[in-house]
Amino acid sequence: MNETIETILNHRSIRKFTDQSLSEEQVEIIVRAAQQASTSSYMMAYTIIGVTDPEIKKQLAEVSGQFYVEKNAHLFVFCADLSRIKAIEASEEENKMIEENLQSTEQFIVATVDAALAAQNAAIAAESLGLGICYIGSLRNDINRVNEILELPKYVYPLFGMVMGYPAHEPEKKPRFPKELIYHENTYKKHKETEQYVKDFDETLKTYYANRSFNTRHDTWTKQMLRKYKVPQRLDVGPYIKKKQMNRH
Ligand SMILES: Cc1cc2nc3c(=O)[nH]c(=O)nc-3n(C[C@H](O)[C@H](O)[C@H](O)COP(=O)(O)O)c2cc1C
Repeated sequence: MNETIETILNHRSIRKFTDQSLSEEQVEIIVRAAQQASTSSYMMAYTIIGVTDPEIKKQLAEVSGQFYVEKNAHLFVFCADLSRIKAIEASEEENKMIEENLQSTEQFIVATVDAALAAQNAAIAAESLGLGICYIGSLRNDINRVNEILELPKYVYPLFGMVMGYPAHEPEKKPRFPKELIYHENTYKKHKETEQYVKDFDETLKTYYANRSFNTRHDTWTKQMLRKYKVPQRLDVGPYIKKKQMNRH
């Protein structure tokens, strides 16, 4: 095993940070690592916002309901961003086509994937420097408010945040599904035993939650997913994205 693989396999989300801040060089190298991720058709269809203003951090923490959005060394917001294509100098005719294209589901996926790949590169770069990270999807608890706080233009939406800093706790690694469920060879394999795999995984996770060194609880994967999916989720996100002129057709 090499150091890169070790870093990747050692991942766990960090939600408590020491007071130590990041140096400018650290932030710069992390952003450069993010930027070096592969990018669909060389579009680089994302923007990373580093939130350093404590007031803005506080407002974003209120949206997320999670204290660590405020209490961290650095908060990044990864935005899917098609606005630069819109800014290209083009004829009226070309502009009409560009706009038509930018509003497609395909381009929405392109920008979303680009932003996610950049983020994961940033995460691994940070972890390789001994920092901890946690993605913050809860910014989408009120995506319109985040849009307002960060003053995002048309064709730009906030995909998620990422908090970063020196870890002040050492959570155990969270188990993952067995490889057989995730990796299929050649064609999609419907496992007759999927239900059994999930039952076994529930047991694994139950043991993990019962024995971990902080925040122990009685829970399983099935229970978590049920809690989440039996209620509507962030129904304002769809209309918001359309309002941003994205994912319209
Ligand atoms: C896109 C995305 C959004 C997430 N949003 C949140 C979040 O808002 N708050 C949080 O505490 N964790 C968040 N997480 C972290 C996940 O809960 C975590 O990755 C998962 O439970 C597995 O745990 P681990 O990262 O420690 O292995 C998010 C992860 C991803 C990939």
